Amino acid sequence: MAAPLLCLQLFMLLITSDSAATAFVGRGRRIARTNDTLRDDPVGRLKVYVYELPTEYNQDVVERDERCLSHMFAAEIFLHRFLLSSAVRTLNPDEADWFFTPVYTTCDLTNNGLPLPFDSPRMMRSAIQYIANKWSYWNRTEGADHFFIVPHDFGACFHYKEEKAIERGILPILQRATLVQTFGQSYHVCMKKGSIVIPPYAPTARILAHLIPPSTPRSIFAYFRGLFYDVGNDPEGGYYARGARASIWENFKNNALFDLSSEHPATYYEDMQRAIFCLCPLGWAPWSPRLVEAVVFGCIPVIIADDIVLPFADVIPWKEIGVFVAEHDVPNLDAILTSLSAVEILKKQRALADVSIKQAMLFPHPSLPNDAFHQILNGLARKLPHDPNIYLKDGIRILNWTAGPRGDMQPWKQQ
Ligand SMILES: *[C@@H]1O[C@H](CO)[C@@H](O)[C@H](O)[C@H]1NC(C)=O
Ligand SMILES: *[C@@H]1O[C@H](CO)[C@@H](O)[C@H](O)[C@H]1NC(C)=O
Ligand SMILES: *[C@@H]1O[C@H](CO)[C@@H](O)[C@H](O)[C@H]1NC(C)=O
Repeated sequence: MAAPLLCLQLFMLLITSDSAATAFVGRGRRIARTNDTLRDDPVGRLKVYVYELPTEYNQDVVERDERCLSHMFAAEIFLHRFLLSSAVRTLNPDEADWFFTPVYTTCDLTNNGLPLPFDSPRMMRSAIQYIANKWSYWNRTEGADHFFIVPHDFGACFHYKEEKAIERGILPILQRATLVQTFGQSYHVCMKKGSIVIPPYAPTARILAHLIPPSTPRSIFAYFRGLFYDVGNDPEGGYYARGARASIWENFKNNALFDLSSEHPATYYEDMQRAIFCLCPLGWAPWSPRLVEAVVFGCIPVIIADDIVLPFADVIPWKEIGVFVAEHDVPNLDAILTSLSAVEILKKQRALADVSIKQAMLFPHPSLPNDAFHQILNGLARKLPHDPNIYLKDGIRILNWTAGPRGDMQPWKQQ
């Protein structure tokens, strides 16, 4: 799709979803008030130096498997591309506030398109070794003014199984760096303090292709499509989604208010635009692209994931736009949702109609004001100025390059 057309369509989406809410509300058009920090312009507030790496760390892996351009971890590719042409980029590392190392660690996919994280720690270590040897900036702070995007399910723990991810912990050499990660769960060893939590990548063009007339009534009360059980990986049950999805199915499969199925229909995106509530329970990770889709389609997200850390939570009013249900309260989901008054529902729908909030959930290319890229930059800008203590005295070393699983010490070789 041509870029200008994409922009126009996104603009239309934003306008129409606002008027969709207005139509539903049946009153004059109003935009919800949100924290204006969401609309900050990062240009002039920070300078980012993008390291130039051999293409085996980025471009080559995409050329090998183009599916990486559209899967839910694709933000690592588009953040890199965005930065290359961004006004915050500096070609002079001496004036940079932040350093970015463009390494695509989620692009090793199975035939089914699931990312395998097994080479990622070695690939990441190898990239850091490369920049630490070639430039002087890494050694100056051991990464404290560097940021990395690690969109895997468990971020820089680099494993898709939670118990293994916890056992591995965050890759030791990333200890001092700032992580931009999709994984968001408080009190979790894979959730690094100070990380910038982003939405998973959802292809904007595909979303735009499924818009329905904004006047379409929301005739579905609560909607969910997805797995309830993951028999392959969790044969006994109870691990997957900590049982929350199984509980949704078992309690509400015969309840007329709930439109539930494990089959993804062709009308999935249209259905979300016809629903009042979209259930967003945790899966293996606390988040899923549903959260993005629900917000963009103006369907009130019902967030069922205890301790979830939501994307850009410091600037997006999640409490206003969503409903939070504790995992142990899933059996009462019908009572919880039906107890919300029409006024409360309309307030949430109106808050959801804020164009900046929808924009912040997406990584459109080319980028648009207030989108997820801009929120990442704003998050980095808010961390400035750096604490002077991050600059290490000559000869001082804090990181231990040989810490971590022994397998990670093997050299990384491009397949
Ligand atoms: C950075 O430090 C490592 C050892 O910790 C050393 O091998 C490397 O050469 C240093 N880099 C530069 C550019 O001096
Ligand atoms: C808006 O968000 C910023 C950044 O998190 C915060 O410092 C500020 O207090 C917020 N303002 C309001 C009015 O909520
Ligand atoms: C670095 O980590 C390795 C592996 O855990 C350990 O054997 C070694 O003693 C550590 N080195 C330092 C200087 O702490």
